[in-house]
Amino acid sequence: MGFGNLLTADRDGVRTITVNRPDKLNALDRQTIAELQIAFDQARHDDAVRVVVLTGAGEKAFVAGADIAEFSSLTPLQAVSFAQAGQRMTCSIERLGKPVIARLGGYALGGGLELAMACHLRIASTRARIGQPEINLGLIPGFGGTQRLARLAGRAAALELCLLGAPIDAARALALGVVNRVVEPEALDAEVEATAAQLAAAAPHALAGILDTVLAAGDLGSDDGLAYEAKAFGLCFSTADAREGTAAFLERRKPRFTGG
Ligand code: COA
Repeated sequence: MGFGNLLTADRDGVRTITVNRPDKLNALDRQTIAELQIAFDQARHDDAVRVVVLTGAGEKAFVAGADIAEFSSLTPLQAVSFAQAGQRMTCSIERLGKPVIARLGGYALGGGLELAMACHLRIASTRARIGQPEINLGLIPGFGGTQRLARLAGRAAALELCLLGAPIDAARALALGVVNRVVEPEALDAEVEATAAQLAAAAPHALAGILDTVLAAGDLGSDDGLAYEAKAFGLCFSTADAREGTAAFLERRKPRFTGG
């Protein structure tokens, strides 16, 4: 289907989804949230999609937050439902079962950082500015920011970003573990493409197993987590890709994973 606020493009197993409201720094209004939900549902069900790259149109912003103009007039109940829609959409990304890379070329603020944190890898340019500035609006994060930031970077970082509300630069975000890699702006696309290509060539069932078990680590105690991992490890042995990967190693050749 065609989207009003998103662009999508496919290449070699990589689907790029672009939030396309550059005149509003790609702020997330209700329509954009609903379209992201649909776009990620489509990516989930399309076997040809191995990896998703999520980015924002223009060089200024990934996403500068939820759309303040739209949400400023919400009633409390409407605000709950708005937050829940954002949380459903970000949970869909986190639980996609395929790796999602956030390409952070500029501002990733508020709902933008929350969106990026639902992705599995975050690659930022030195121009990125990252933060949870909701406190400056008299608000708190509502699309999972308090929870994901604390799990991703720890309570100290979550409290600093959410309480003080000041954006941090990419180097500090890297030091805190909020982003995975930082590169110069002109190297950003190549870095994202190379990472996406590596993931697109990997065994999809093993990728899904890693995503599933690492995410479960946030919810399970250590014994349950280890038991879960052992079963997921065993399940890999039902795949043609695991046979191919191990055979290729023993035969000293490069593996060719087909998704079987
Ligand atoms: N919601 C709605 N509109 C937004 C927005 C948001 N989160 N962020 C930016 N915009 C809009 C601006 O209103 C402006 O629209 P206009 O041209 O129709 O007036 C346009 O995007 C460009 O933004 P502008 O503020 O002029 O750019 P800037 O370079 O001066 O500042 C930011 C950039 C990111 C510092 C600033 O836009 C900002 O603080 N945005 C809000 C960030 C935020 O609080 N996010 C969390 C929301 S919960």
